[in-house]
Amino acid sequence: MKQLSGRRALVCGASQGIGAATAAVLAEAGAQVILLARNQANLDSVLRDLPGSHHKALAVDIGQPSQVTALIQRELEAGPIHILINNTAGPKSGLLLEAQADEFLEAFRNHILSAQNFTQLLVPGMRKAGWGRIVNIISTSVKTPIPNLGVSNTIRGAMANWAKTMSLELGPFGITVNNVLPGYTMTPRLEYLRKATAGKLNISEIEVEKQWLATIPMARLGHPLDIAKAVGFLAGVDAGYITGINLPVDGGRTPSL
Ligand SMILES: NC(=O)c1ccc[n+]([C@@H]2O[C@H](COP(=O)([O-])OP(=O)(O)OC[C@H]3O[C@@H](n4cnc5c(N)ncnc54)[C@H](OP(=O)(O)O)[C@@H]3O)[C@@H](O)[C@H]2O)c1
Repeated sequence: MKQLSGRRALVCGASQGIGAATAAVLAEAGAQVILLARNQANLDSVLRDLPGSHHKALAVDIGQPSQVTALIQRELEAGPIHILINNTAGPKSGLLLEAQADEFLEAFRNHILSAQNFTQLLVPGMRKAGWGRIVNIISTSVKTPIPNLGVSNTIRGAMANWAKTMSLELGPFGITVNNVLPGYTMTPRLEYLRKATAGKLNISEIEVEKQWLATIPMARLGHPLDIAKAVGFLAGVDAGYITGINLPVDGGRTPSL
């Protein structure tokens, strides 16, 4: 029997990148996976490639809590969802000084309020099962802010404190809450950041990538599976005594301990 056989997992932001890779790792470990994102065609393509059976895809915008709640409540009628992966697009890049109020509000809604809503919906079932895993995909900016990601840096710090607080409250019920902090990882998000940085610094995208690589001791960019395997470990049986942590998966780039 696989270690996550009989467990159900909800993976947000699962139509591409780190979320899609995480869904594949959890499915490989035996979990029954519910993929969630907005783009139905991309979700269907990820769904087709998942190992195992009884997976499904929900197309919804996590910024629409009433729609999300209705869909998840329907899923919970079939039984508890034991694993929650909070993950969505990062806020757009830009200087903090130039950031507008609506950018903060959107980021707060899509990251913090969304995670809060999913957690409130799923925790009763996890408590009944006496077992639960919540893993949040955040960023190394939790430890060291990244230049030109003003709103992102701000919201990631809030998310890390949300998660730590939640880990204190849920620990007694056998539910762990941890954060994975990806470094530069080859996904559509990184392609967007590479382009934005090249435009801002007036250099080529190749030069941007060279500058990034120079900051990474392992001398390569991350692959979505590098991140997904760490998420899979924290969501698995063997990580049962680990909660409230921030785990960088960044080839050694984060300078702080
Ligand atoms: N890649 C990196 O180098 C890196 C580094 C540090 C941190 N991170 C962070 O890690 C997270 C995942 O990164 P990634 O590179 O995999 O990102 P990505 O390629 O931009 O993928 C984001 C996923 O979230 C979904 N999504 C976006 N907005 C949504 C919404 N409103 N409702 C539902 N789903 C939504 C997207 O699908 P739809 O468009 O179909 O909705 C997609 O599946 C992000 O927060 C990112 O900022 C990434």
